[in-house]
Amino acid sequence: MSFIEIKDIHKTFYGKKRAGEETQVLNGVDLNIEKGDIFGIVGFSGAGKSTLARCINRLEEPDSGQIIIDGVDITGLSKKELALRRRKIGMIFQQFNLFESKSVFKNIAYPLMLDGWSKDKINSRVEEILSLIGLEDKRDAYPGQLSGGQKQRVGIGRALANRPDVLLSDEATSALDPQTTLSVLDLLKEINHKLGITILLITHELEAIKYICSNMAVLENGVVTESGSVRSIFQNPNSKTGHIFIDIYSSFRKDDLYGEGDGI
Ligand SMILES: Nc1ncnc2c1ncn2[C@@H]1O[C@H](COP(=O)(O)OP(=O)(O)OP(=O)(O)O)[C@@H](O)[C@H]1O
Ligand SMILES: [Mg+2]
Repeated sequence: MSFIEIKDIHKTFYGKKRAGEETQVLNGVDLNIEKGDIFGIVGFSGAGKSTLARCINRLEEPDSGQIIIDGVDITGLSKKELALRRRKIGMIFQQFNLFESKSVFKNIAYPLMLDGWSKDKINSRVEEILSLIGLEDKRDAYPGQLSGGQKQRVGIGRALANRPDVLLSDEATSALDPQTTLSVLDLLKEINHKLGITILLITHELEAIKYICSNMAVLENGVVTESGSVRSIFQNPNSKTGHIFIDIYSSFRKDDLYGEGDGI
């Protein structure tokens, strides 16, 4: 049994403006993710990646199928049970989604306040998190005073505050420059290593997947067309999307192909 089991997930959106308009976004997604893995999901724009991420914590209700995390069927939970389980599923986004009018401290403290933690416990947990994300000196700053990389660190800090066992990362580095991307990926790697948290890394950036993921899947028109080790998919992609992505990746790295790189 895998830590996260995604079974035959379907999701269709129905148009609000025009009756009869429908978009079938997820068409039977199956995926298994092991505990402690950093698992990459790649796919073209519109393939359904964000919808899948949102179905995992039921921010979006799947039409059918199951999401099982650590043996618990998330899709079968009542609203109250779901609210409790959701605290253990952190999520980070491309646009950070911070509260602009709250300080870094308050942004990170927010989920703990909702959870009814005491002031003292919140203080010590936020200090711990600030040290983990390397932003002790920005405790009282506001998001508007931070760089993109620092904002995403706060996003990661807030997502981790409640000690989740899963972190969903939806294009979390897509708005960052390459150097900052690298430092955020290093942070994700570090928290995966230190905390054993399972990370789902959704991204267009194959470099990011190659840098920190061990396993990956390719999503195409709402189905998983291949999944396996990053190494095997980079060396021998089997799906149409997988081929296109790897071809583009290789073209960008042409110098390396003829140099001393690993040839993929
Ligand atoms: N709430 C919604 N209502 C209607 N259609 C939606 C909704 N959310 C997503 N869609 C549609 O579902 C499809 C998949 O969207 P989704 O955001 O999951 O793709 P994605 O793979 O994350 O794309 P991107 O790489 O651009 O982020 C798109 O055609 C989108 O327009
Ligand atoms: Mg998306």
